[in-house]
Amino acid sequence: MIHMHITAWSLGIILFFVTYSMYKSGKQAKAMHMVVRLLYILIIATGLLIYKDVHWMPMLYGMKMLGGIWVIAAMEMVLVKTSKQKATGAFWAQFVIVLLVVLYLGLRLPLGFSPFA
Ligand code: HEM
Repeated sequence: MIHMHITAWSLGIILFFVTYSMYKSGKQAKAMHMVVRLLYILIIATGLLIYKDVHWMPMLYGMKMLGGIWVIAAMEMVLVKTSKQKATGAFWAQFVIVLLVVLYLGLRLPLGFSPFA
């Protein structure tokens, strides 16, 4: 399941950038945006499925999950604001900062790779 989670968020982030550049260059990006939204659901679902089997480090797992949802919220806000040609700076800042925190927490927690443990 951890590999499904890693696949889901890597693909989600890549397609997020693809969708962003499509909106930016004035292309029709609605369908791609829907694919990214489907990946949000997969990221959350795989995250929750991993979580249901762990019973340790509740504080760090709690922060990891809230952070993960925050990253997704920031991605969605960047895409929606870009599609409406509105300012996205505040959401890009949240995306970058919280993504770094979430990557750190994910790689610090015991499952999968743990270089920061
Ligand atoms: C874009 C958003 C997200 C990113 C970039 C992300 C990233 C990561 C990374 C890097 C790991 C560690 C993988 C490894 O150790 O090999 C991980 C694990 C995990 N993620 Fe996420 N995640 C995101 C969203 C979520 C969400 C929304 C949830 C929960 C609803 C969640 C729950 C978990 C759990 C429970 C683990 C296992 C932690 C461990 O013990 O290593 N993640 N995630």
